[in-house]
This record gives sequence, C-alpha cells and structure tokens, in this order.
Amino acid sequence: MGLGTMAAAFVGGPWLNRGMAQAPGTPTAPAPTGPYTLPPLPYPYEALEPNIDTWTMQIHHDKHHKAYVDNANKLLVDHPELSKMSPEELLKNLDKAPEAIRTGLRNNVGGHVNHSLFWLMMSPKGGGKPTGKIAAAIDKKFGSFEQFQTKFNEAATKRFGSGWAWLVAKDGEIEIVSTPNQDPPLLEGQRALLGLDVWEHAYYLKYQNRRADYITAWWNVIDWDFVNEQLAKA
Ligand SMILES: [Fe+2]
Repeated sequence: MGLGTMAAAFVGGPWLNRGMAQAPGTPTAPAPTGPYTLPPLPYPYEALEPNIDTWTMQIHHDKHHKAYVDNANKLLVDHPELSKMSPEELLKNLDKAPEAIRTGLRNNVGGHVNHSLFWLMMSPKGGGKPTGKIAAAIDKKFGSFEQFQTKFNEAATKRFGSGWAWLVAKDGEIEIVSTPNQDPPLLEGQRALLGLDVWEHAYYLKYQNRRADYITAWWNVIDWDFVNEQLAKA
C-alpha cells in the first residue's frame, strides 16, 4: 500500500468518527438476516465509563460482535438444519457441520456466544466484592476474593495473543480457565460464569498495550448478580 493510499485509508477509517462515537446513544439491533441477531447492549455505550470507554464499546459491539453474527449467518445460508439449532447447540455439535465451514463456525458462533454473555457480565452498577452464592463458592475454592482476583488476573495476563479468561463451573466445581481465540467454555462442557475478553479490540483504544490496566478497571464493572444467575444454572 502506497503512502497516499494509506493516508486515504486512515482518513476514511473510524478514527475521525471519534467525536460521533462519544456522543451519548442508545445501542440498537439491526434487522436479522439469518438465524442469529446482534443483541442490543443492555446499557448505553457510555455506561461503563471511565473503566471501559464509549468508543471501545461502540466499535466492540457494533463492529466486532456484529461481524461474528454476520459471518455466522453467511456460513449458515445453505444449512437450514444447522440454522435451526441455538448457537450453543451448534457449537456442541460442530461435527455435524461440513468440514469446510467448521472452523468458521467455531470462531464466529463462538464469538457471538462469548460477546452476548460478556455484555451481560458487566453493568454500570457493577463492581465491588461478589455477593451471594458465588462469594461463598469463591472463598471456598480460592481462599478469598483477593486470591481469586490474583489467579484470574494471571490467567487473563498470560493468555498469549487473543482469547478469554473465564470463571467456569463444571460438575459442581468452579475453576479459572483461559481459552484461545473465540473458543467458549461450553466446548469443554463448562458453564461460563464470568469472562474477560482480552482481545486487543476490547481495550486497545483506551489502554493500548496496557492490558493489565484494562483488567484492573474491568473489576469495577462486573455484574455479580448476573454471575450468580449463571451459577444457579450450572
Ligand atoms: Fe471482543
């Protein structure tokens, strides 16, 4: 790409729209064009400021999550039998999909499932210490909330490249795991209770290479009520 083309691409990119993106707005869901739809954010883009910035939320939800939904829908165009399944069911039955689209489905349906949960795991009223049954489960498993945080931060920091850190439940036990790319814990039969997206797209606009600062800030927006709801389903 020549310098002129690069400059044009830069000018035409999302960067100049920053002012627009920062304006208060209510996220909306576009019309469905396949089996899956982009769920609206459960709060405005700016709701998680200053921990997660408005621009990141807008790009992350409207561009990245939307791309997973759109790509999954495209892959499923000629597969009505697969389209009938919920995204979670499809991920559990990837062997029923033609090999040519299996990786694409794993990445994009996985991305859709993970992000749909991720928005709900955060709240403008979130943060603080866990409450209810998850608080007791964390104390029992990790000794204290602080020790759990240290171990979770380690998992999130050490995930090389793109992926997720999770608190999951399986067979009545909770544990911390991390997954690469968009692999959801359900591929291992685990239920996601809490998850942190450590793809650069989740934090780079505000935190650049400072993933640890993003992780620290994210603890201020965790919706422990939602985590408890997930635990109750486990
Ligand atoms: Fe993401």
